Amino acid sequence: MSELKKIIIESIEKNGPLPINKYMETCLYHPEFGYYMKKNPIGKQGDFITSPEISQVFGELVGIWLVNAWKTLGEPESFNLLELGPGKGTLIKDIWRSTMVFPEFQNAAELLLFEKSNVLRKLQSHNLRKVPVEWVNDLESITKKPMICFSNEFFDALPIRQFTMKNQTVLEKKVSLNKNKEIQFEFFEVNRDCKIITEENNLTEGTTIERSDLQFEILKCLCEKLKDNRGCLLIIDYGSELGQVDTLQGMHKNKYCDFLANPGEVDLTSHVNFGLISDYAKSFKTKPSKLITQKIFLTKMGVFERFKKLTDSLNENEKNYQTKTLNRLVSKDQMGNLIKVLAIQSNNEPDIYPFSF
Ligand SMILES: C[S@@+](CC[C@H](N)C(=O)[O-])C[C@H]1O[C@@H](n2cnc3c(N)ncnc32)[C@H](O)[C@@H]1O
Repeated sequence: MSELKKIIIESIEKNGPLPINKYMETCLYHPEFGYYMKKNPIGKQGDFITSPEISQVFGELVGIWLVNAWKTLGEPESFNLLELGPGKGTLIKDIWRSTMVFPEFQNAAELLLFEKSNVLRKLQSHNLRKVPVEWVNDLESITKKPMICFSNEFFDALPIRQFTMKNQTVLEKKVSLNKNKEIQFEFFEVNRDCKIITEENNLTEGTTIERSDLQFEILKCLCEKLKDNRGCLLIIDYGSELGQVDTLQGMHKNKYCDFLANPGEVDLTSHVNFGLISDYAKSFKTKPSKLITQKIFLTKMGVFERFKKLTDSLNENEKNYQTKTLNRLVSKDQMGNLIKVLAIQSNNEPDIYPFSF
């Protein structure tokens, strides 16, 4: 049995069943055995692959979006350019290379990375040797100036709790032990005073809701900064407008797997509830855009034209490879539809292309 599984079993024996967020926190961030804390899980050899790792074009187009966002904000002379959860650093590397033609943008940008994993931080610092980045441990501490923040597949990696209603009773799904001391899911009745439930009005018979305290904490901090110092936030993630189903998933070697199998060895995620994020952003007097798919975002940013230019001089084999790559990013049954894009802006600013609000 793995060390992490022993730790989880001991914790349940001592303190009782674990809410899913506590289980995820332990599996993902345990200082010694946590999934993100001991290895790099991203890429063909890892457990999952992300858009920046599929093609440099993704970062180039996000780069153009960021430059345009900066221009729309009136080209502030100094601003924080913050990436949440940079993984291997590939996205910011491609952004930086492709925005070299906008020296005023690069000179004004203070590049900040928010990363929890020391293993990935090391990898980022190696891969970003030529990029002037700094790491921030605490979002609150970021200097007060306009901020342009972006993330790809960050929010879906944050721990969540899950609730459901059966026979008019609110239940929380937790991780407990069966009689053979194996970990399992089990539902527990929720105290009606539970803050999440008392604030909740769309939990109805048979539906499931997922909530992430950490997501709210991070959004609160960022939205307050947008409100006080102006700026915008670009969120690219698996998810949808509504979130009334169970979206927990485990991923190992690029295949779906049992969420509870091999704690610390598999990636654990859930789909982002963008409707909830939008409502939350409004409560901080910032304006969320209408949600669009990755396909629409990339198409409006010129992905087809960019791929055409990139492949014009290639031979047939190379062209076929690039066509497959493009399809992974935009096709409806792959990332094109499943991944959504949301922008949040400070109020009273012109809308940033290609979003409508
Ligand atoms: C799914 S990976 C995405 C990586 C990268 N954005 C990409 O597209 O390839 C999630 C990233 O978020 C980081 N991360 C997860 N939870 C975090 C947290 N609570 N605070 C800061 N970074 C976190 C992970 O270490 C990793 O870099």
